Amino acid sequence: MDRLPGFRDFYPEPLPHPDAWSADARQYIFSRWRDVARRYGFREYDGPPLEPLELFTAKSGDEIVAQLYNFVDKGDRAVALRPEMTPTLARMVAAHERAYKKPIKWFAIPQLFRYERQQKGRLREHFQFNADILGESDPAADAELIALLIDTLRAFGLTAEDFVVRLSSRNAWQEFFSARCRDHTRAYEFFQVVDKLERVPPAESERRLTALGFSLDEVNRFITSAQPTAELQAILDNLAVRGLCEFVQVDYHVVRGLAYYTGPVFEAFDRRGEFRAIAGGGRYDNLVKLISGGKVDLPALGFGMGDVVLLELLKARNLLPVPGPGVDVFVLIEDEALRLPSLQLVQTLRTAGFAVDFPLTPAKSDKQFKRAQELRAPWTARLESPTHVRLRNLVNRREMTVPVGEAVAHLRAP
Ligand code: HAM
Repeated sequence: MDRLPGFRDFYPEPLPHPDAWSADARQYIFSRWRDVARRYGFREYDGPPLEPLELFTAKSGDEIVAQLYNFVDKGDRAVALRPEMTPTLARMVAAHERAYKKPIKWFAIPQLFRYERQQKGRLREHFQFNADILGESDPAADAELIALLIDTLRAFGLTAEDFVVRLSSRNAWQEFFSARCRDHTRAYEFFQVVDKLERVPPAESERRLTALGFSLDEVNRFITSAQPTAELQAILDNLAVRGLCEFVQVDYHVVRGLAYYTGPVFEAFDRRGEFRAIAGGGRYDNLVKLISGGKVDLPALGFGMGDVVLLELLKARNLLPVPGPGVDVFVLIEDEALRLPSLQLVQTLRTAGFAVDFPLTPAKSDKQFKRAQELRAPWTARLESPTHVRLRNLVNRREMTVPVGEAVAHLRAP
């Protein structure tokens, strides 16, 4: 039976097929995400993958609602698999807002589900690094978050030649819209057209804009002539002091497809323009209030970075590390009379923190040794007697026989 289209199986290395998804690569990405978030003082949170449907309807915008995996559960509740993390975060923070000092800096690595048309960089399930700051309205928070985004990508070895953060302003777009169109209910529709300008044929964008009372020409003129707003300038200055300005550029093509953004918005792209957005985010100062039914009012901002495009980019730039060996030590049991003390040795080494494997059932010695090589174990250990063990370093070929009690010290020696 095949897996569903747009969903992935993650295999351990070595991969059965070059196109298979690697569980090791996924783990590598997650650990870098966690590491940089920690360096920036963010704490990890998580929420349920299944949420009430209404958490997403009316809050995220039509585009994401059309992509929902939703159904009625056995208790007659309308539910949906989470397509994004931000509404869950807003709900969680609103519920216990008083328990946390501001600003709140939280991150999560949820698996998200969107019934999208499958294409390069877009699947029906992905993991997304989310980092958000709540309770701070100063642009210093926007700069901090963008710095985190930049440093996250740099942690994978990507440089200013590989990616750029395109910075824009939903405020500026809102003003542009309001100055020309009185029907405020259509602002989101307008942002959706701008969001897709670079992906949709110009004639199609022109048609949609005309229906809203705009011309493609005036929209394009706004994009090319727009100057940074005071807010954006404050963010740029802040990033410049950190030595990060080469990673950012003001670009009004960005407006973001989700409905709830209110202020500065941004997206990270590869410089060569080969891939879809690596990450996207911005300010959403009204969402917590909306989700808490007016009970809690907190300014907020954040971004999401998917694992799919990031992995494609790292592969293309040859930046994925070769996965490490499966084990540190393979214990050979060539003499079955020594199986029980060998098991004790396995246990001692594991307790000392080594990753250890051994033949579960009797096997020929060459087969055992082959297995150790397949696992790329740097060491083998074989009991010569209940009291002495032969250690062999498969990397530098060094061998020695030592008392069992000294094995750990020898394996630890540099
Ligand atoms: P988003 O732009 O919808 O934002 O998604 C953020 C990133 O997730 C994208 O740039 C992309 O890398 C990845 N992504 C999105 N959809 C897919 C897909 N179908 N397949 C693979 N990767 C995908 C949000 O979700 C916001 N909630 C982010 C945010 C957090 N804003 C504030 N805080």
